[in-house]
Amino acid sequence: MSVGYHGPATSIMNGDVYFRPRRLGHANLWVDDLERSQTFYNEVCGLTVEFWEPDLVATFLGTGNTPHDLGMIETTGGKARHGRNGLLQIPEGVGANVGLGHLAWELANEADLVDAYRRARDDEVPVDMTVDHQVAHSVYLYDPDGNSMEYYCDTVKNWRDVLHGEMELITAGWNPEDGEPFSDSRYDEHPEIRIVEDAPVHPRRLTHAVLVTENVERLAAFLTSVSGLEEVGRSEDVIYLRASLAKYPYHLVICNKRNGAGGYHHVSFELESVGAVESAENELVERGITPELSVDNETKRSFYLRDPDGLLSEYYVRRSAAIPDLSAEPPRMRAFLV
Ligand SMILES: [Fe+2]
Repeated sequence: MSVGYHGPATSIMNGDVYFRPRRLGHANLWVDDLERSQTFYNEVCGLTVEFWEPDLVATFLGTGNTPHDLGMIETTGGKARHGRNGLLQIPEGVGANVGLGHLAWELANEADLVDAYRRARDDEVPVDMTVDHQVAHSVYLYDPDGNSMEYYCDTVKNWRDVLHGEMELITAGWNPEDGEPFSDSRYDEHPEIRIVEDAPVHPRRLTHAVLVTENVERLAAFLTSVSGLEEVGRSEDVIYLRASLAKYPYHLVICNKRNGAGGYHHVSFELESVGAVESAENELVERGITPELSVDNETKRSFYLRDPDGLLSEYYVRRSAAIPDLSAEPPRMRAFLV
């Protein structure tokens, strides 16, 4: 497998900023059994199945806040998969194991995306691929840990008109140099949020992700330069990063790896109220599902669920936008308390 990152480019060392996202749009996971994971995130976690792509072995679920909050693709066994028009969408060796597929960062418009792409390319920041997802144009790069990061702009506001139910292969190649990029914003400012009535949990939006890493400083340098995130706080060996949309206190938290695997720790979904978190937790217990961990402190009320592959997600409501002081917390707990 060839991961497209070959050490920090000079421009990253210089702190040049490339992509300037608004917020985290979605996370994409590799899962071992697509149907099993789809059922879990839909029937337990309350994410609506918006569309699915059998030829890629992929399903896309969400709240409606963006075209999907959570995508999932079945692991490949190391074999390549192709998109539309023969696009090599998943090269050989990629997606062999469960875990993070990518994090996707929403930019305001295509002009911003193409400008960032051109500067990154000209400065020899390695670009993995550029694609057309029918509702978005995307540029993918790897971070220094080998996590795939997608930077995208919505190309249509009414994405449910384009992607719904079972889809033929969605993704084709995209040449950012083709034509004049548009500069109007096409994300939906008033999205229709859908909940799964019968599910115990009713998330409203994906807000942030948490990654663990062997080298927080190296990863933070990439995220503040290439990814254009702002460092908004630190506590112990945990760094908080935010995209430009200030109504979210942060969009990504990176934590020093203590033990176990690096990469994905969890993604977090916001619920409507403390009462909604508590009634979801009660309903889960009634159905025989015990949350991995329950948190009730001055920062948040939340619980964590472990999916059938062992991947974590959090369902929470925030009590304070302040960066929590983690100095008294055991290091192994810090990624749960951010
Ligand atoms: Fe994506």
